[in-house]
Amino acid sequence: MVLIENIERLKEVLFRVKSNGKSISLVPTMGALHQGHLSLIEKARHESQVVVVTIFVNPTQFNNSEDLAKYPRTLEQDLELISEYTDIVFAPSVEEMFPTPPAEKYNFGSLEKVMEGASRPGHFNGVGIIVKRFFDLIKPDKAYFGEKDFQQLAIIKDLVKQNNIEITIVPCPTVREENGLAMSSRNQRLTKEQRDIASQVYQILLQSQKMNTESIQEICTFVKSEIAKMEDIQLDYFQIVDDTTLEEVENFDNHPGVVGCVAFFIGNVRLIDNIRYH
Ligand code: PAJ
Repeated sequence: MVLIENIERLKEVLFRVKSNGKSISLVPTMGALHQGHLSLIEKARHESQVVVVTIFVNPTQFNNSEDLAKYPRTLEQDLELISEYTDIVFAPSVEEMFPTPPAEKYNFGSLEKVMEGASRPGHFNGVGIIVKRFFDLIKPDKAYFGEKDFQQLAIIKDLVKQNNIEITIVPCPTVREENGLAMSSRNQRLTKEQRDIASQVYQILLQSQKMNTESIQEICTFVKSEIAKMEDIQLDYFQIVDDTTLEEVENFDNHPGVVGCVAFFIGNVRLIDNIRYH
C-alpha cells in the first residue's frame, strides 16, 4: 500500500496503473475508518485490480464548524485497518485539494431539497464538489458508496448521470454494531451508554418494518411517537420516501422502492439511518 498526499504524485502512480490496463476502484472516505468503510473496501478488492481509498475530511460539505472541528482524525489507525485490502491511499491536505476556494455549483434538483439537503444547507454541493474532483483525478471504473447515506448515494448517481461520467456506482449495505446501531465515524463521539440509546432508534425502525399495515401515515406516526418518548434523542426528521426520487410517498402503490430515513441528535452528535419497507 502506498500513501500519497499530493496530486502530482497521484497522477504519476495512476498513469503507470492505467498504462498496464488495470481496473481501478475508488472508495472515497473521510477517515476515522470502521468496519462499514472496510466492507466497501473489501468489496472493491474482490471486484477490481487496483483499489484506491481517499481519506479527506472535506470542509466544503460541513455546514457546522463544530462538527468539522470535532470530526475524528485517525490516519495512523486508518492505514493499519485498510493496508491489507488497499493499493493506494490518497490523503491530501485541504490546501492540496482546494488551493483556492472551490466555486462549483451543482444542481441536484428535488434530490437536494429534502432531508439532509434541507437540514444541512450546502452539504450536497460540497459532496458533489469533492466527489467530482476525485472522479476527474482518479478516473476509476467503479466507485463504492454505502446505503447508510442513502440520499448521498442518490446524489452521486445523479452527479454521474448529469456529467455523463463513465463509472459504475456500487451501492453497499449498511454495516451495524451488534446492538444494531449503524456504524459511523461520529459514533466515536458517543459514550457506551449513548451508543446503546442510539441503537434503540434502529430497533424502532425494525419494529416499524414489521408492522402489519399498508398505511404510510400509521408507520410515520408510530416511529415519531416512539422516538418522542426517548428523553435523550431529539428527532430531526423521519420521512418515508420513494427510493429513486426521494419524494415523500403517501402510499406504497406505484412505488417499487420505499425507504424510511431518519436523522436525530443524541447530545450534540447528529446521526442518520434508514430502513427499506419495499
Ligand atoms: P464517510 O462518512 O467517511 O463515508 C464513506 C463511505 O462509507 C460512504 O459511502 C458511506 O456511505 C460509507 N459508510 C459509512 N458508514 C457505513 C456503514 N455503517 N455501512 C456501510 N457503509 C458505510 O460519506 C462520506 O464519507 C463523504 O460524504 C464522502 C463521500 C467521502 C465525500 O466527502
